[in-house]
Amino acid sequence: MESLRPYLLSLVLLIATAVLLMGFFSKNKFVVEGRTVLLTGGSQGMGRGLAKLFAQKGANVVIVARDVKKLEAAVEYIQSSAKSPQTQRFHFISADLTSSSENERIVKEVTEWNNGNPPDIVWANAGYSKPQLFLDASIESMRNQMETNFWAATYLAHTTLRTWLTPSASSPKDGSAVPTKEPLPRHFIMTSSVAALCGIAGYAPYSPGKAALRSLADTLRSEVQLYNGSRHYLSSSSVSPPPVKIHIVLPGTITSPGYVEENKTKHPVTHVLEEGDLVQTEDEVAAAAFKGLEAGNYMITTQFLGHAMRVGMLGGSPRGGVFGIRDLLFGWVIGVAWLFISPDMERKVWRWGRKNGVQSGAVKTYSK
Ligand SMILES: NC(=O)c1ccc[n+]([C@@H]2O[C@H](COP(=O)([O-])OP(=O)(O)OC[C@H]3O[C@@H](n4cnc5c(N)ncnc54)[C@H](OP(=O)(O)O)[C@@H]3O)[C@@H](O)[C@H]2O)c1
Ligand SMILES: *[C@@H]1O[C@H](CO)[C@@H](O)[C@H](O)[C@H]1NC(C)=O
Ligand SMILES: *[C@@H]1O[C@H](CO)[C@@H](O)[C@H](O)[C@H]1NC(C)=O
Repeated sequence: MESLRPYLLSLVLLIATAVLLMGFFSKNKFVVEGRTVLLTGGSQGMGRGLAKLFAQKGANVVIVARDVKKLEAAVEYIQSSAKSPQTQRFHFISADLTSSSENERIVKEVTEWNNGNPPDIVWANAGYSKPQLFLDASIESMRNQMETNFWAATYLAHTTLRTWLTPSASSPKDGSAVPTKEPLPRHFIMTSSVAALCGIAGYAPYSPGKAALRSLADTLRSEVQLYNGSRHYLSSSSVSPPPVKIHIVLPGTITSPGYVEENKTKHPVTHVLEEGDLVQTEDEVAAAAFKGLEAGNYMITTQFLGHAMRVGMLGGSPRGGVFGIRDLLFGWVIGVAWLFISPDMERKVWRWGRKNGVQSGAVKTYSK
């Protein structure tokens, strides 16, 4: 047994190196140059960071939000980062995404704007958080957050996937012949949050909508395989729609205008639980999301704490890294760490209550 040890050790090192190298040399699985992107919530914060990066990488970008002034300013800002300013196109649409018919309208409008071809990449990123203790939050506030964080993304997924996966609606309109090689996949992406992965006092009005998105993404991820598999059955004369890839991005704290807003109602105990968390700028979070997409990942966290939360909560979600082995091993470590973190978080909340009382509506005295 003793004599085998160096061999086993070398074998483990060899496998680890091979796995790392395979990851390092893998090709870009998120090609955006020359493609058309529909991105919601693109007028500020993470969405604006994403739109800028799409522009830098050569994509045509349409952003959607409600406020026209902010949209105009954002398009100008995004456009100035274009890789090829002569050929890339930029556009905005003002819409309230909590209406299902508005989501249908924007997909139609972008398709017309894109010479009859539906957008290649659609990103449901709009969302907001108004954190409060559950007992302080009104039912209306909770329903509104569900409406924006869950339903708006669901409406967009529904109309986009119907457009993409109906064979007649998705054949290229530019007269090109039946493609001989595998077409680039289309991508549907949703922005969730690490709040979907862990119970944090004060986020009851927000987290459930983001957690529901994760479940929707997991389910769609499974369901699109059906369409991709059935592409082989289409007759050679009809153009089969390109395969669809589903992704979900779960950022941690972002220094966005939305974050400044959510800070106004946040209970002090939520601040205690978030103390010391890594904060990312809109450009940093966008770059981290792209890194995960380019590696071909499905479920993408954007910083170390997020990675740790994700691998500890994978359940039946697909694992990342070569053959999923990286996430599997990392998840085992986190499973042990969680034995300590979870009781520690509960203790922090209990201690805060013992020292200060509940302070229902405490934040009213903090903001204004
Ligand atoms: N900030 C964070 O710390 C954090 C952490 C984790 C996850 N997230 C998630 O990441 C995403 C981006 O957050 P952010 O803080 O960067 O953004 P943000 O500064 O709050 O901006 C939100 C964007 O969404 C648009 N929007 C909101 N509601 C809309 C509606 N009903 N219809 C159309 N557009 C709407 C806003 O424009 P209008 O108001 O003009 O419509 C704006 O462009 C959100 O989904 C958020 O939940 C944020
Ligand atoms: C679609 O199926 C083909 C095999 O027919 C496979 O090579 C490809 O990776 C699949 N695409 C997606 C996005 O799952
Ligand atoms: C958030 O609010 C806390 C107090 O409630 C304050 O100390 C902190 O500076 C605020 N941060 C931001 C980004 O507004």
